[in-house]
Amino acid sequence: SALTLAATAFAGAAMADPTKCDDGEIVMKFSHVTNTDKHPKGIAANLFMERVNAEMDGTACVEVYPNSTLYNDDQVLEAMLQGDVQFAAPSLSKFETFTKVFRIFDLPFMFKNMDAVEAFQNSPTGEAMKDAMVRRGLQGLEFWHNGLKQFSANKPLLMPEDAAGLKFRVQPSDVLVAQMEALNASPQPMAFSEVYGALQTGVVDGQENSWSNIYGQKFFEVQDGITETNHGLLDYMVVASVDWLDSLDPAVRDQVLTILAEVTDERNAAVAEVDNAARQAILDAGGVIRELTDEQRQAWVDAMKPVWSQFEADVGADNIAAAQEINA
Ligand code: LMR
Repeated sequence: SALTLAATAFAGAAMADPTKCDDGEIVMKFSHVTNTDKHPKGIAANLFMERVNAEMDGTACVEVYPNSTLYNDDQVLEAMLQGDVQFAAPSLSKFETFTKVFRIFDLPFMFKNMDAVEAFQNSPTGEAMKDAMVRRGLQGLEFWHNGLKQFSANKPLLMPEDAAGLKFRVQPSDVLVAQMEALNASPQPMAFSEVYGALQTGVVDGQENSWSNIYGQKFFEVQDGITETNHGLLDYMVVASVDWLDSLDPAVRDQVLTILAEVTDERNAAVAEVDNAARQAILDAGGVIRELTDEQRQAWVDAMKPVWSQFEADVGADNIAAAQEINA
């Protein structure tokens, strides 16, 4: 009957909803803090969800919670160790209390572009970093790219002196704190979800982030402009708890991790496109982007690069040398 057909169509639609888990499926919550539109992490997490939910239907499913709706980055790793969330992809700057090996990625002007980042991460040194937190209960699974960082503030930033005396929101990373101090600015660690409000009300004057985050959080609306410095890296590690991974049936675990690896390859390869689209979207929305002359850019390098020596012991002079070799 028409009624049965309609009911069947409805049930079919409900089952096909990629954001909903069915009874009996292993539910894997993926919590993150960014938006999903024109955002490398948002897009990758949703693709992972869609593929798991289609290809593992009846066995396992992913639920994505974006925009800090479930946890902030300073809560999510503890929640993961408690078993309350199964996947997260915090930026590499957010793992300070678990490991210091990611500090190399925060050092200003360490990588000249995303190809250099990719090559370093795929090297034996980069691969080994996935296991750096195992003793603390976290397994690094994949590096996910976002892009290079830019500075923005409530006044034009063309020379490093323009940042002096200003308050900048930073992620909770000692390297980023030292970087802002090298500019004679005042670093203010703060959760991502609070940055827009802090810029709007003048609690901080500026911030640093990738194009997709400046676009997604609309920081450009409450800043004088953005300076295209490309001075640092915003990149992620997808993590899960060692105990939870061990508790999975091996065939289920293999399938989930294979899908994750394929999603990683696909989305990391597309990251430049997403980055450019976010940059263009800022311009289209009336945001101001200032480009630097070679001389101006060199002045930022000269002001910030001395930070490397402060962290050489944590990061390893050999790792810095390896990263620089890839840049050459
Ligand atoms: C930030 O806090 O600025 C970023 O780590 C947010 C993100 O996940 O991209």
